Amino acid sequence: MRKIDLKDYSIFVGDIWNDLNAFLKEKKYSRIVIIVDKNTKKQCLPKLLDKTNIDKPILIKTKSGELNKSIKSCNKIWKEMMDEGIDRNGLCINLGGGVIGDMGGFCAATFKRGIDFIQIPTTLLSQVDSSIGGKLGVDFADVKNSVGLFKNPKAVFIDPCWLESLPYRQLRSGFGEIIKHSLIDDSKQWKELSQIKDLKKVDWSSILVPSLMVKKRIVEADPFEDNVRKALNFGHTVGHAVESHALHSDQPYLHGEAIAIGMICEAYLSAKITGLPDSELKNIKDFINFHYDKNHLKEDSFPFLIHLMTKDKKNERSEINFTMLTEIGKATINQTCNHDLILESLDYFNN
Ligand SMILES: NC(=O)c1ccc[n+]([C@@H]2O[C@H](COP(=O)([O-])OP(=O)(O)OC[C@H]3O[C@@H](n4cnc5c(N)ncnc54)[C@H](O)[C@@H]3O)[C@@H](O)[C@H]2O)c1
Ligand SMILES: [Zn+2]
Repeated sequence: MRKIDLKDYSIFVGDIWNDLNAFLKEKKYSRIVIIVDKNTKKQCLPKLLDKTNIDKPILIKTKSGELNKSIKSCNKIWKEMMDEGIDRNGLCINLGGGVIGDMGGFCAATFKRGIDFIQIPTTLLSQVDSSIGGKLGVDFADVKNSVGLFKNPKAVFIDPCWLESLPYRQLRSGFGEIIKHSLIDDSKQWKELSQIKDLKKVDWSSILVPSLMVKKRIVEADPFEDNVRKALNFGHTVGHAVESHALHSDQPYLHGEAIAIGMICEAYLSAKITGLPDSELKNIKDFINFHYDKNHLKEDSFPFLIHLMTKDKKNERSEINFTMLTEIGKATINQTCNHDLILESLDYFNN
């Protein structure tokens, strides 16, 4: 078990049960709400109930998937909390991936002006990314994460045991953010990741902590994303465009899969603009292509992808904003480049 202390809460990584039980015992909450979706109800809830002795938990089940990260689902959660008479001394446990973590956290942080909540992230992506950094919210009017707030949980309990039931593509999606963390801030972990040949055989407990430490360093330096937190956007300018474009196709990408494509393109831009050595660019491309299916971006979609990038909320003064690498393990924020070079980077991905 490893404990990572942030300013106002701790993240427990590994075999979480002793610490979770100690937390529950110490806090003496009046009632405990557990938010799950169909999958975490089946795969994770039995173990949570078995390993803790939560007295008469109130189970709130939401529909799974990004489409249900909505105010409509929040209405249901708030209503059930209200009907059950949850007061300010209640606790909300979010047992699930990033959708449940962001939305359950948002519901808890706003219910009766805020009740305590803890995160028990059950996907790789939520374990290394969304459960830390305090961003909560839901999608609104077709815009992702457009309603929400920053608020930290009382604690985060991360147990790799949940990953056993996680589908391979979901694992690979979370792995994209782990790769990103190493590229922007931890060249040593990049070397270790480079040895991985089969995601199904990884001992995640040794990978999670260094990856979380990268995000911790960055969000603590810049909690509200004024500057250095933008480093976490590496791969995300191109990646978000690719993800949005494919959203309504018959083959949508998972977030981390799209970011993997974005990282290859943005590493190319880094080699042209911020001095990433060509040998490192090649290593990044080869490693990502090894783990992710070889995709081809259709040339006739390129203008629309650029259009989507110009609409990215990270932009300033109508210029497309990138985080680039100067070398593996070092990022530099607020970079721009011309559209021709972005087109070249998409071609580089394809070839
Ligand atoms: N707050 C942040 O800083 C932050 C950062 C990154 C992403 N996010 C958000 O996270 C969300 C994506 O999170 P995600 O990738 O975890 O997706 P998700 O929550 O939709 O989970 C993916 C799928 O896995 C299932 N699942 C969860 N745990 C499982 C388990 N142990 N076994 C089997 N199935 C399981 C879920 O039911 C779901 O179908 C997005 O909404 C994104 O905006 C937030
Ligand atoms: Zn991401």
